[in-house]
Amino acid sequence: MAVATLEITRKPSVFPPEERAALQPLIREIEELKRERNALITAHNYMTPDIYYGVADLVGDSLALAQMAARSDAEVILMAGVHFMAETSKIINPDATVLIPDLRAGCSLAEGITASDVRRLKQMHPGAPVVSYVNTTAEVKAESDICCTSGNAVAVVEALGAERVIFLPDGFLGRYVATHTDVEIIMWEGRCIVHERFSGNELEDLRQMLPQIPVIAHPECSPDVLEQADYVGSTHGIVNWVRELRPPQVMMLTECSMADNVAYELDDVEIIRPCNLCPHMKKITLENIRNSLRTMTHEVVLEPEIAARARLAVERMLQVGRS
Ligand code: 13P
Ligand code: SF4
Repeated sequence: MAVATLEITRKPSVFPPEERAALQPLIREIEELKRERNALITAHNYMTPDIYYGVADLVGDSLALAQMAARSDAEVILMAGVHFMAETSKIINPDATVLIPDLRAGCSLAEGITASDVRRLKQMHPGAPVVSYVNTTAEVKAESDICCTSGNAVAVVEALGAERVIFLPDGFLGRYVATHTDVEIIMWEGRCIVHERFSGNELEDLRQMLPQIPVIAHPECSPDVLEQADYVGSTHGIVNWVRELRPPQVMMLTECSMADNVAYELDDVEIIRPCNLCPHMKKITLENIRNSLRTMTHEVVLEPEIAARARLAVERMLQVGRS
Protein backbone atom coordinates (compact mmCIF):
# COMPACT_ATOMS: atom_id res chain seq x y z
CA MET A 1 0.00 0.00 0.00
CA ALA A 2 1.37 3.45 -0.90
CA VAL A 3 1.50 5.56 2.24
CA ALA A 4 1.29 9.35 2.18
CA THR A 5 3.68 11.50 4.12
CA LEU A 6 2.19 11.38 7.58
CA GLU A 7 2.60 14.58 9.45
CA ILE A 8 3.31 14.55 13.14
CA THR A 9 2.64 17.93 14.61
CA ARG A 10 3.31 19.24 18.09
CA LYS A 11 4.16 22.88 18.13
CA PRO A 12 2.29 24.76 20.87
CA SER A 13 5.19 27.20 20.54
CA VAL A 14 3.39 28.68 17.52
CA PHE A 15 0.98 30.43 19.90
CA PRO A 16 1.76 33.74 21.56
CA PRO A 17 2.78 33.20 25.25
CA GLU A 18 -0.54 34.36 26.79
CA GLU A 19 -2.55 32.11 24.47
CA ARG A 20 -0.19 29.20 25.17
CA ALA A 21 -0.61 29.66 28.92
CA ALA A 22 -4.40 29.69 28.54
CA LEU A 23 -4.42 26.53 26.39
CA GLN A 24 -1.86 24.57 28.39
CA PRO A 25 -4.10 23.09 31.17
CA LEU A 26 -6.57 21.66 28.65
CA ILE A 27 -3.81 20.36 26.39
CA ARG A 28 -2.13 18.71 29.40
CA GLU A 29 -5.41 17.07 30.44
CA ILE A 30 -5.90 15.70 26.92
CA GLU A 31 -2.33 14.37 26.85
CA GLU A 32 -2.92 12.50 30.12
CA LEU A 33 -6.18 11.03 28.90
CA LYS A 34 -4.49 9.91 25.69
CA ARG A 35 -1.87 8.02 27.67
CA GLU A 36 -4.50 6.41 29.95
CA ARG A 37 -6.65 5.32 27.01
CA ASN A 38 -3.83 4.38 24.59
CA ALA A 39 -5.51 6.81 22.22
CA LEU A 40 -4.33 8.45 19.03
CA ILE A 41 -5.76 11.78 17.88
CA THR A 42 -5.92 12.02 14.11
CA ALA A 43 -6.86 15.46 12.85
CA HIS A 44 -7.98 16.80 9.50
CA ASN A 45 -6.13 19.78 8.03
CA TYR A 46 -9.23 21.94 8.66
CA MET A 47 -8.97 21.71 12.44
CA THR A 48 -8.26 24.97 14.24
CA PRO A 49 -4.60 25.63 15.21
CA ASP A 50 -5.14 24.81 18.92
CA ILE A 51 -6.15 21.26 17.91
CA TYR A 52 -3.82 20.94 14.92
CA TYR A 53 -0.72 22.11 16.77
CA GLY A 54 -1.79 21.48 20.36
CA VAL A 55 -3.06 17.88 20.63
CA ALA A 56 -3.13 16.11 17.24
CA ASP A 57 -0.75 13.15 16.91
CA LEU A 58 -1.17 12.90 13.16
CA VAL A 59 -2.69 15.37 10.71
CA GLY A 60 -3.54 15.13 7.04
CA ASP A 61 -6.16 15.03 4.30
CA SER A 62 -8.93 12.42 4.07
CA LEU A 63 -6.68 9.93 2.31
CA ALA A 64 -3.88 10.28 4.87
CA LEU A 65 -6.42 9.90 7.71
CA ALA A 66 -7.65 6.61 6.21
CA GLN A 67 -4.06 5.43 5.73
CA MET A 68 -3.24 6.34 9.33
CA ALA A 69 -6.22 4.35 10.62
CA ALA A 70 -5.15 1.35 8.54
CA ARG A 71 -1.66 1.42 10.11
CA SER A 72 -2.61 2.30 13.67
CA ASP A 73 -2.35 -0.16 16.55
CA ALA A 74 -3.80 2.31 19.09
CA GLU A 75 -6.74 0.96 21.11
CA VAL A 76 -8.63 4.21 20.59
CA ILE A 77 -8.63 6.55 17.59
CA LEU A 78 -10.21 9.93 18.22
CA MET A 79 -11.14 11.65 14.97
CA ALA A 80 -10.74 15.40 15.11
CA GLY A 81 -12.65 15.80 11.88
CA VAL A 82 -16.12 15.04 10.59
CA HIS A 83 -18.31 11.96 10.95
CA PHE A 84 -17.55 10.31 7.61
CA MET A 85 -13.84 10.45 8.49
CA ALA A 86 -14.48 8.70 11.82
CA GLU A 87 -16.61 6.08 10.06
CA THR A 88 -13.87 5.49 7.50
CA SER A 89 -11.38 4.90 10.35
CA LYS A 90 -13.75 2.36 11.92
CA ILE A 91 -14.37 0.67 8.57
CA ILE A 92 -10.66 0.21 7.96
CA ASN A 93 -9.67 -0.54 11.58
CA PRO A 94 -12.63 -2.42 13.10
CA ASP A 95 -10.66 -3.50 16.20
CA ALA A 96 -10.08 0.07 17.34
CA THR A 97 -12.60 2.05 19.36
CA VAL A 98 -13.22 5.10 17.18
CA LEU A 99 -14.51 8.27 18.81
CA ILE A 100 -15.97 11.45 17.34
CA PRO A 101 -16.29 14.29 19.88
CA ASP A 102 -19.51 15.75 18.42
CA LEU A 103 -22.06 13.76 16.43
CA ARG A 104 -23.23 16.92 14.67
CA ALA A 105 -19.93 17.14 12.76
CA GLY A 106 -21.48 16.08 9.45
CA CYS A 107 -20.80 17.03 5.81
CA SER A 108 -23.14 18.46 3.16
CA LEU A 109 -21.75 16.01 0.60
CA ALA A 110 -22.28 12.94 2.80
CA GLU A 111 -25.80 14.15 3.60
CA GLY A 112 -26.59 14.68 -0.09
CA ILE A 113 -26.94 11.03 -1.14
CA THR A 114 -28.38 7.83 0.36
CA ALA A 115 -27.75 4.14 -0.24
CA SER A 116 -31.10 3.86 -2.04
CA ASP A 117 -30.08 6.73 -4.38
CA VAL A 118 -26.98 4.69 -5.26
CA ARG A 119 -29.03 1.53 -5.87
CA ARG A 120 -31.27 3.55 -8.21
CA LEU A 121 -28.25 4.93 -10.08
CA LYS A 122 -26.91 1.40 -10.54
CA GLN A 123 -30.25 0.31 -12.02
CA MET A 124 -30.24 3.30 -14.38
CA HIS A 125 -26.65 2.63 -15.53
CA PRO A 126 -26.16 -1.15 -15.43
CA GLY A 127 -22.53 -2.25 -15.55
CA ALA A 128 -21.05 1.14 -14.66
CA PRO A 129 -18.88 0.81 -11.52
CA VAL A 130 -19.61 3.18 -8.63
CA VAL A 131 -16.81 5.45 -7.40
CA SER A 132 -17.72 7.12 -4.11
CA TYR A 133 -15.88 10.05 -2.67
CA VAL A 134 -15.02 9.20 0.97
CA ASN A 135 -17.33 12.07 1.93
CA THR A 136 -20.19 9.56 2.11
CA THR A 137 -21.84 7.41 4.78
CA ALA A 138 -20.82 3.79 5.41
CA GLU A 139 -24.12 2.71 3.79
CA VAL A 140 -23.25 4.54 0.57
CA LYS A 141 -19.71 3.13 0.62
CA ALA A 142 -21.22 -0.35 1.02
CA GLU A 143 -23.07 0.14 -2.30
CA SER A 144 -19.88 1.29 -4.05
CA ASP A 145 -17.17 -0.55 -5.96
CA ILE A 146 -14.39 1.72 -4.79
CA CYS A 147 -13.88 4.95 -2.83
CA CYS A 148 -11.69 7.89 -3.69
CA THR A 149 -10.58 11.16 -2.16
CA SER A 150 -9.63 14.44 -3.77
CA GLY A 151 -6.03 13.15 -3.51
CA ASN A 152 -6.57 10.22 -5.87
CA ALA A 153 -9.92 10.63 -7.68
CA VAL A 154 -8.50 10.62 -11.22
CA ALA A 155 -6.20 7.64 -10.49
CA VAL A 156 -9.08 5.67 -8.94
CA VAL A 157 -11.39 6.32 -11.91
CA GLU A 158 -8.66 5.26 -14.35
CA ALA A 159 -7.67 2.20 -12.30
CA LEU A 160 -11.08 0.63 -12.94
CA GLY A 161 -10.44 0.21 -16.67
CA ALA A 162 -14.13 1.00 -17.39
CA GLU A 163 -15.47 3.15 -20.23
CA ARG A 164 -17.86 4.96 -17.88
CA VAL A 165 -18.26 5.21 -14.13
CA ILE A 166 -20.85 6.55 -11.72
CA PHE A 167 -19.07 9.21 -9.67
CA LEU A 168 -20.68 10.55 -6.49
CA PRO A 169 -21.63 12.66 -4.64
CA ASP A 170 -19.63 15.82 -5.52
CA GLY A 171 -20.67 17.22 -8.92
CA PHE A 172 -17.81 19.73 -8.99
CA LEU A 173 -15.17 17.11 -8.18
CA GLY A 174 -16.83 14.90 -10.81
CA ARG A 175 -16.44 17.64 -13.42
CA TYR A 176 -12.81 18.17 -12.40
CA VAL A 177 -12.13 14.44 -12.82
CA ALA A 178 -13.93 14.48 -16.21
CA THR A 179 -11.48 17.11 -17.50
CA HIS A 180 -8.54 14.83 -16.59
CA THR A 181 -9.66 11.49 -18.03
CA ASP A 182 -11.27 9.95 -21.10
CA VAL A 183 -13.55 7.84 -18.90
CA GLU A 184 -17.18 9.00 -19.13
CA ILE A 185 -18.31 10.34 -15.75
CA ILE A 186 -21.94 9.89 -14.71
CA MET A 187 -22.39 12.60 -12.04
CA TRP A 188 -24.43 13.15 -8.94
CA GLU A 189 -24.97 16.82 -8.14
CA GLY A 190 -23.92 17.03 -4.48
CA ARG A 191 -22.12 20.15 -3.25
CA CYS A 192 -19.75 21.16 -0.48
CA ILE A 193 -21.38 24.14 1.26
CA VAL A 194 -17.94 25.64 1.94
CA HIS A 195 -16.31 25.40 -1.49
CA GLU A 196 -19.41 26.18 -3.57
CA ARG A 197 -19.30 29.69 -2.06
CA PHE A 198 -16.15 30.65 -3.97
CA SER A 199 -17.27 32.29 -7.20
CA GLY A 200 -15.50 32.52 -10.55
CA ASN A 201 -16.60 36.16 -11.02
CA GLU A 202 -15.25 37.24 -7.64
CA LEU A 203 -12.01 35.41 -8.33
CA GLU A 204 -11.70 37.15 -11.69
CA ASP A 205 -12.03 40.54 -9.92
CA LEU A 206 -9.46 39.54 -7.30
CA ARG A 207 -7.06 38.33 -9.99
CA GLN A 208 -7.32 41.67 -11.73
CA MET A 209 -6.48 43.47 -8.49
CA LEU A 210 -3.69 41.06 -7.59
CA PRO A 211 -2.48 39.67 -10.94
CA GLN A 212 0.84 38.34 -9.63
CA ILE A 213 -0.61 36.11 -6.90
CA PRO A 214 -0.83 32.38 -7.56
CA VAL A 215 -4.24 30.88 -6.79
CA ILE A 216 -4.54 27.40 -5.32
CA ALA A 217 -7.89 25.71 -4.91
CA HIS A 218 -9.56 22.55 -3.68
CA PRO A 219 -11.34 20.52 -6.41
CA GLU A 220 -14.68 20.84 -4.57
CA CYS A 221 -14.78 24.41 -6.00
CA SER A 222 -16.83 25.12 -9.13
CA PRO A 223 -15.29 24.70 -12.61
CA ASP A 224 -15.18 28.49 -13.21
CA VAL A 225 -13.00 28.82 -10.09
CA LEU A 226 -10.80 25.83 -10.90
CA GLU A 227 -10.10 26.96 -14.46
CA GLN A 228 -8.48 30.12 -13.05
CA ALA A 229 -6.38 28.27 -10.45
CA ASP A 230 -2.64 27.74 -10.80
CA TYR A 231 -2.83 24.57 -8.73
CA VAL A 232 -5.76 22.30 -7.81
CA GLY A 233 -5.35 19.60 -5.18
CA SER A 234 -6.45 17.95 -1.97
CA THR A 235 -5.71 19.71 1.30
CA HIS A 236 -2.49 17.64 1.51
CA GLY A 237 -1.56 18.71 -2.04
CA ILE A 238 -2.26 22.37 -1.25
CA VAL A 239 -0.11 22.37 1.91
CA ASN A 240 2.75 20.65 0.09
CA TRP A 241 2.52 23.01 -2.88
CA VAL A 242 2.98 26.03 -0.60
CA ARG A 243 5.73 24.30 1.42
CA GLU A 244 7.69 23.47 -1.69
CA LEU A 245 7.24 26.63 -3.78
CA ARG A 246 7.21 29.20 -0.96
CA PRO A 247 5.63 32.03 -2.98
CA PRO A 248 5.78 35.37 -1.14
CA GLN A 249 1.97 35.56 -1.43
CA VAL A 250 -0.67 33.00 -2.36
CA MET A 251 -4.47 32.95 -2.55
CA MET A 252 -5.82 29.80 -0.92
CA LEU A 253 -9.37 28.80 -1.85
CA THR A 254 -10.37 26.24 0.72
CA GLU A 255 -11.51 26.13 4.34
CA CYS A 256 -10.06 28.98 6.33
CA SER A 257 -8.53 27.19 9.34
CA MET A 258 -6.17 25.36 7.03
CA ALA A 259 -4.79 28.69 5.85
CA ASP A 260 -4.26 29.60 9.53
CA ASN A 261 -2.32 26.36 10.12
CA VAL A 262 -0.14 26.90 7.07
CA ALA A 263 0.41 30.55 8.01
CA TYR A 264 1.67 29.51 11.48
CA GLU A 265 4.11 27.08 9.87
CA LEU A 266 5.37 29.24 6.98
CA ASP A 267 5.65 32.77 8.24
CA ASP A 268 7.49 33.87 5.07
CA VAL A 269 4.33 33.24 2.97
CA GLU A 270 1.44 35.70 3.05
CA ILE A 271 -1.81 33.84 2.58
CA ILE A 272 -4.79 35.68 1.12
CA ARG A 273 -7.78 33.70 2.35
CA PRO A 274 -11.37 34.51 1.52
CA CYS A 275 -12.56 33.09 4.82
CA ASN A 276 -15.09 30.26 4.49
CA LEU A 277 -15.33 28.07 7.57
CA CYS A 278 -16.87 24.59 7.59
CA PRO A 279 -19.55 24.64 10.31
CA HIS A 280 -19.23 20.86 10.67
CA MET A 281 -15.47 20.82 11.17
CA LYS A 282 -15.81 23.69 13.64
CA LYS A 283 -18.01 21.51 15.90
CA ILE A 284 -14.78 19.88 17.13
CA THR A 285 -13.09 21.77 19.97
CA LEU A 286 -10.40 21.12 22.55
CA GLU A 287 -13.16 20.92 25.20
CA ASN A 288 -15.18 18.25 23.45
CA ILE A 289 -12.00 16.30 22.58
CA ARG A 290 -11.23 16.25 26.33
CA ASN A 291 -14.82 15.21 27.16
CA SER A 292 -14.80 12.54 24.48
CA LEU A 293 -11.67 10.90 25.92
CA ARG A 294 -13.03 11.21 29.46
CA THR A 295 -16.37 9.57 28.75
CA MET A 296 -15.39 7.52 25.67
CA THR A 297 -18.17 9.10 23.62
CA HIS A 298 -19.29 9.17 20.89
CA GLU A 299 -18.21 5.75 19.75
CA VAL A 300 -18.71 4.93 16.06
CA VAL A 301 -20.60 1.64 15.77
CA LEU A 302 -21.34 0.13 12.38
CA GLU A 303 -23.62 -2.66 11.31
CA PRO A 304 -21.15 -5.53 10.57
CA GLU A 305 -22.56 -6.41 7.15
CA ILE A 306 -22.47 -2.76 6.00
CA ALA A 307 -18.97 -2.32 7.43
CA ALA A 308 -17.66 -5.42 5.64
CA ARG A 309 -18.97 -4.24 2.25
CA ALA A 310 -17.77 -0.68 2.82
CA ARG A 311 -14.32 -2.03 3.80
CA LEU A 312 -13.88 -3.58 0.35
CA ALA A 313 -14.47 -0.20 -1.30
CA VAL A 314 -12.08 1.63 1.06
CA GLU A 315 -9.39 -1.06 0.81
CA ARG A 316 -9.54 -0.93 -2.99
CA MET A 317 -8.94 2.82 -2.78
CA LEU A 318 -5.97 2.31 -0.44
CA GLN A 319 -4.45 -0.10 -2.98
CA VAL A 320 -4.50 2.71 -5.55
CA GLY A 321 -2.87 5.10 -3.08
CA ARG A 322 -2.15 8.74 -3.86
CA SER A 323 -1.89 9.91 -7.45
P1 13P B 1 -9.32 16.50 1.61
O1 13P B 1 -9.40 15.04 1.40
O2 13P B 1 -8.69 17.22 0.46
O3 13P B 1 -8.64 16.80 2.90
O4 13P B 1 -10.79 17.10 1.65
C1 13P B 1 -11.71 16.76 2.62
C2 13P B 1 -12.80 17.71 2.70
O5 13P B 1 -13.77 17.51 3.40
C3 13P B 1 -12.69 18.90 1.88
O6 13P B 1 -13.75 19.72 2.07
FE1 SF4 C 1 -17.98 18.46 3.93
FE2 SF4 C 1 -17.33 20.71 2.71
FE3 SF4 C 1 -17.14 20.57 5.35
FE4 SF4 C 1 -15.42 19.20 3.79
S1 SF4 C 1 -15.60 21.41 3.96
S2 SF4 C 1 -16.51 18.43 5.58
S3 SF4 C 1 -16.76 18.65 2.09
S4 SF4 C 1 -19.04 20.43 4.15
